[in-house]
Amino acid sequence: MTDAAISANELARNFGQRPALRGVSLEIGRGEIYGLLGSNGSGKSTLIKILAGALKPTAGRFHLSGTTGYVAQRFGLYEDLTVEENIVFHTRCHGLSGATLTASVDESLQLLGLNDWRRRTTNELSFGWKHRLAIASAISHKPAILLMDEPTAGIDPVARGITWRTLAAIARTGTAILLATHHLDEAEQCHRIGFLEEGRLIASNSPTELISQTGQPTLTGALAAMAAKGQAQ
Ligand SMILES: Nc1ncnc2c1ncn2[C@@H]1O[C@H](COP(=O)(O)OP(=O)(O)OP(=O)(O)O)[C@@H](O)[C@H]1O
Ligand SMILES: [Mg+2]
Repeated sequence: MTDAAISANELARNFGQRPALRGVSLEIGRGEIYGLLGSNGSGKSTLIKILAGALKPTAGRFHLSGTTGYVAQRFGLYEDLTVEENIVFHTRCHGLSGATLTASVDESLQLLGLNDWRRRTTNELSFGWKHRLAIASAISHKPAILLMDEPTAGIDPVARGITWRTLAAIARTGTAILLATHHLDEAEQCHRIGFLEEGRLIASNSPTELISQTGQPTLTGALAAMAAKGQAQ
């Protein structure tokens, strides 16, 4: 094994006879933001769930070099607890207590712009704000690895920008971030992008390299070319 934060070797997962993931190998370094792209049903969530320990692979192996934070595509929150209580609960589950716990919770509330909501009951929040709370809960114990399945889905454009600045700052502290997204403007901000097509990782490179590899003028064009090539195989 290498010293990568995330290392996956030929991961595969079938549901019944149907393959959802077919031999995905991947290494993600500390401080790297890696974006997973691919059409609906291409296997993004399946890969993230396996790495998060929420799903067993049918074949293959993986290694994570530290603690993880996970934001599921269908994230769960305790609706009857306040915003702050939700973050406290998640953070305590990861073993933090006392002054460290309080400081971490305060920092997460601040980072996701949730300070004004901290004493509100979670079920009062709109979907986008709940999603921000799910992110705040996942990052507050300062995991070495963040696994996020479409962390900005349903979040308004301004808040998406804030969330991305937060993720970039977290990555600069050495955290490895693997996230799924359908937003190309977000993909452009990733250090590397992995493109999944029917469970296969058909491209894995920096946005600029993907563009020059395909000879396309934009990332949109490059991904379309990758998809066309993937389907032709
Ligand atoms: N629990 C399950 N039981 C059966 N099939 C499943 C299950 N979970 C996922 N699949 C199938 O595995 C494939 C990959 O699904 P997955 O959720 O990983 O895709 P995705 O890339 O995350 O899609 P989306 O962009 O819609 O979130 C799909 O064909 C899906 O129907
Ligand atoms: Mg998904």
